[in-house]
Amino acid sequence: MQDACAPETEEDVRPTGDTPEKRVFIKTFGCQMNVYDSERMADALGSAGFAETDAPEDADLVILNTCHIREKAAEKVFSELGRLRVLRETRRELGGGNLMIAVAGCVAQAEGEEIARRAPLVDIIVGPQSYHRLPELIERRAGTRGVVIETEFPAAEKFANLPAPKLRSAPAAFLTVQEGCDKFCTFCVVPYTRGAEYSRPVAQIVDEAKRLAERGVREITLLGQNVNAWAGEGPSGKTWTLPDLLAALSEIDGIARLRFTTSHPNDMSEALVAAHRDLPKLMPYLHLPFQSGSDRILKAMNRKHRIEDYLRIVDRLRDVRPDLALSTDIIVGFPGETTADFEETMRVVERVHFAQAYSFKYSARPGTPAADRPEQVPEDLKSERLARLQARLFAQQTAFNAAMVGRTLSVLWDSRGRNDGQIVGRSPYLQSVYAEGDPALLGSIADVEIVAASQNSLRAVIKNLDEDAT
Ligand code: 5AD
Ligand code: SF4
Repeated sequence: MQDACAPETEEDVRPTGDTPEKRVFIKTFGCQMNVYDSERMADALGSAGFAETDAPEDADLVILNTCHIREKAAEKVFSELGRLRVLRETRRELGGGNLMIAVAGCVAQAEGEEIARRAPLVDIIVGPQSYHRLPELIERRAGTRGVVIETEFPAAEKFANLPAPKLRSAPAAFLTVQEGCDKFCTFCVVPYTRGAEYSRPVAQIVDEAKRLAERGVREITLLGQNVNAWAGEGPSGKTWTLPDLLAALSEIDGIARLRFTTSHPNDMSEALVAAHRDLPKLMPYLHLPFQSGSDRILKAMNRKHRIEDYLRIVDRLRDVRPDLALSTDIIVGFPGETTADFEETMRVVERVHFAQAYSFKYSARPGTPAADRPEQVPEDLKSERLARLQARLFAQQTAFNAAMVGRTLSVLWDSRGRNDGQIVGRSPYLQSVYAEGDPALLGSIADVEIVAASQNSLRAVIKNLDEDAT
């Protein structure tokens, strides 16, 4: 996600549906927007008689929803296709019918022809703006011999044609409000895979949020590659920006928590900063990538801001919301990055103190301007810098979590824990919290006392249930 493809999720597998006529298994790679897209693909296919399964062996259709942001992410598609080839052959040998295979998402968009060439077993290649047409593409594939490729661009058409989101049990949901990017950072594929910036209309977003609330969702995370560049026409004809939208969504009964990701520093308006002070439902957590602490590198990245601009925004945010937890994305080893440039990145980390961070070695992406630059940084130097950076970031995250011990936090319980009798949820600062608790609490918000902390989670004791807490 990008700034936007930002926080990467674990590969995610959608849950099993009811006894299906046909079954689809969707495997998601990459960012939260892909998680959202996978759910909407399942919605679109639900209308065509497909139920979801979490077992590829049971599926009539397998979709890989792919990520192209870094080389490693893109490579996963081909190794996954290797596994699917075996699955399909085994099924054929056992006389178990056909398995249709689709590749969706950003690799499909960027490398559609290459996939068709390298992996002839693929039946359908569908880009991130075209997946609402999956039912029709499946029919088209059934009636032809070759692969069906659909990578057209208009995002508006997709949103207008998707069915309403289906009931899902999780009390925290994603809602895409903006897609695409016009910023063209020189390392990034997103402007090419997701296309130009597009903001969904206000009414469509509010309607989707209300439906989510009616189905028990308590927390909504607004998604966009440049979510803080979202703009739309408000009910009175006035242009709304993200803080106006957040204020409107705050009014929806049942929605107790709002978040948004991912943001670009240049679209971090004073009104959006102020929303962190004025909207109690807006959680005190912000993902704001800075990528590099060096102005020279920021310029080469075409980030269009200097590091002092970033730090000024951080200070403003902390003026209005002193407890705000900050998360970020950082790239090490961008072409031409010297030791001095890298030290500047380390200085920013020391100055800001991040609650969480995603850090990456620069990965040259075909077709992006930085990929052709001659001063590529050797891999071992990138690894060395990343190790040093991550050691500091992990220490900061651990310290941030440790500071919660003894405090009372409100937690939205969203799933059962690994151990019997445990439930897991999220704090306002997006920390994973677990406690001994009745599964009947899932979907509710409760005050808990934090009794222990580690780098990745907090342990809590449940005090009292408070439905209105945020
Ligand atoms: N190499 C390494 N990291 C990248 N990102 C985006 N493109 C690249 C690349 N070519 C990172 C950025 C972005 C996050 C989602 O992924 O930090 O914010
Ligand atoms: Fe984010 Fe830059 Fe990529 Fe746009 S081009 S998604 S702003 S990293």
